[in-house]
Amino acid sequence: MSFDRPAIISARPALTAELMERTGLDEEILRRLVHRFYDRVRADALLGPIFAARIRDWGPHLDRMVEFWSSVALMTGRYHGAPVPAHATLPVDWTHFDRWLTLFRATAGEVCPPAGAAHVIERAERIARSLHMAVQDAGRAASAVPALRGGGADGRDGSA
Ligand code: HEM
Repeated sequence: MSFDRPAIISARPALTAELMERTGLDEEILRRLVHRFYDRVRADALLGPIFAARIRDWGPHLDRMVEFWSSVALMTGRYHGAPVPAHATLPVDWTHFDRWLTLFRATAGEVCPPAGAAHVIERAERIARSLHMAVQDAGRAASAVPALRGGGADGRDGSA
């Protein structure tokens, strides 16, 4: 039942209330989802080292990820960040996103009610696909930079 759930701060309270009712999700469930998921990520042989190289202090990252999932799943507007630049230059391909999704699906299935798990998994899959495209685009852009220096066929060095 939704009326005994703790109050939630949202930029769109009516929409958030409707989503909580429909999915069975709330902030506490999302917090558990995020913490348990990143426990798994950190212990994972493929993903763990990528995160370990970039995140020293996990407290702020986990808080940010709870805000992200609150915004994505319950439309609370609590997350103000930019996921694309945070991922575009990571040394990852679809294998990494696939592993990320496998761990996320398993954790969502354990922590969320079934409708809530389906809701967050559908969004995670969509976002993973768009982050993967951003990684691919960044790779293509880097390798497509023309050589402007070093003297071309016309003898100019491109610095003029
Ligand atoms: C290959 C899989 C992934 C890897 C290796 C990865 C890795 C990382 C790392 C290392 C950071 C910290 C960046 C920094 O602070 O410098 C980060 C941030 C973040 N990640 Fe991922 N990630 C992956 C997939 C995803 C997916 C699928 C989502 C969403 C469904 C996601 C959402 C986020 C968000 C929201 C942030 C915080 C961005 C910010 O506001 O600064 N990540 N990720």
